Amino acid sequence: MTPSPLPFRIGYGEDAHRLAPGRPLVLGGVSIPQAERGAVAHSDGDAVLHALADALLSGLSLGDIGQYYPDTDPAHAGLDSREILMHALRLVQERNYVPANAALVVTLDRPKLGPLRRAIARNLATLLDLKDTEVGVSFKTSEGLAPDHVQVRATVLLVRVAG
Ligand code: C5P
Ligand code: MG
Repeated sequence: MTPSPLPFRIGYGEDAHRLAPGRPLVLGGVSIPQAERGAVAHSDGDAVLHALADALLSGLSLGDIGQYYPDTDPAHAGLDSREILMHALRLVQERNYVPANAALVVTLDRPKLGPLRRAIARNLATLLDLKDTEVGVSFKTSEGLAPDHVQVRATVLLVRVAG
């Protein structure tokens, strides 16, 4: 007997990128103007969108974004990571689940991101079709343990909808 699908599924994703001068830093689709360094990446290096996309995929055991967007494929160079997130969201929705809320932790020593918390949350909420209050964004320093990279951890709760 096939068990009926669960009403809820949890998804979890992570991403990290090395930081280097002369590149923009974009997190959750928001440019960080005070950043002296940006993410070294094949795509636009938006670690927030990458971690969130992996969280969506993992919630339904759909693998990870590297399977859909291999970083060895020149076609994906400079890719807008919103496209990756929207692809993951579409795969989830096609299976009759939608995100109920998302929670993220961004670990970055500098600059301070607190002033951009609302802008990042609002942007993610718009992309995921959630309310601003359904996206929690936390910031942590690495206390100098990892000053040369940005790390993001993300969870989403997926809810089954009729269909
Ligand atoms: O990691 P730590 O506990 O030292 O962070 C202290 C405060 O600094 C937290 O309130 C956090 O939101 C904020 N923070 C920030 N931007 C960062 C790292 C931490 O605003 N890049
Ligand atoms: Mg990435």
